[in-house]
Amino acid sequence: MLPKLLVWGASGHALVVADIIRLQENYEIVGFIDDLNPQRRGEKFCGAPILGGQEQLDIYNKSIKYIIFGFGNCQARLNLSQLVEIKGFTLANAIHPKATIAADVSIGAGAVIAAGAIVNSQAKIGQNVIINSCASVDHECVIEDGVHISPGVHLGGRVTVGSGTWVGIGATVINNVRIGRNTLIGAGAVVVNDLVDGVLAYGVPAKVIRKIEL
Ligand SMILES: CC(C)(COP(=O)(O)OP(=O)(O)OC[C@H]1O[C@@H](n2cnc3c(N)ncnc32)[C@H](O)[C@@H]1OP(=O)(O)O)[C@@H](O)C(=O)NCCC(=O)NCCS
Repeated sequence: MLPKLLVWGASGHALVVADIIRLQENYEIVGFIDDLNPQRRGEKFCGAPILGGQEQLDIYNKSIKYIIFGFGNCQARLNLSQLVEIKGFTLANAIHPKATIAADVSIGAGAVIAAGAIVNSQAKIGQNVIINSCASVDHECVIEDGVHISPGVHLGGRVTVGSGTWVGIGATVINNVRIGRNTLIGAGAVVVNDLVDGVLAYGVPAKVIRKIEL
């Protein structure tokens, strides 16, 4: 019997996470937590029921050990990871069988690595990180907790991405660049210089557009 798992989230990213979990064949998805839409309780989603909001954690923590986040919001994944641990859950990983990951990569709890992603030698992937479809993270990159690397992003070697940062779809970051925390890189940007914490940057080459609070 497979260990039982909850997926927190019941929208687009949860579909992807649930698909990876089923392909991995190492957890049984018991249900989904949807805090945003209480009216969806009881609805079938991706072959399992939506159980309700976060109040359900106090019921299901008696019988289920594992949980994974199935939503893209970086700050919410960072904030809620403490809550689920306090409630007694262990964060599971979802790693697609068609992701390519070097043997010496370290991967934190709760990480999701989607189809076609490549993570190269000596990269460090933090807790609750998403490396989305066909993104590449090259050698010795450091991806801190709660980061979302969107589909088709390419990070050169030794790039650091600070905690809570979202790198938008198709962005490219040249080698050795350091991107701060809670920053947002717009779709298609080419990042050639370091970026500080808490800014929106986009364009080719990427420029800081404004300060933001994610
Ligand atoms: C950057 C982003 C967050 C929007 O930022 P914003 O400042 O609110 O942008 P707005 O939509 O108000 O647009 C302002 C201007 O910036 C331009 N712009 C927006 N995003 C841009 C981008 N990524 N690159 C270049 N220009 C962009 C708009 O065309 C607009 O130009 P205009 O004033 O000449 O019409 C958004 O466009 C983006 O890139 N999000 C990433 C989405 C993503 O990666 N999704 C993946 C999900 S898995």
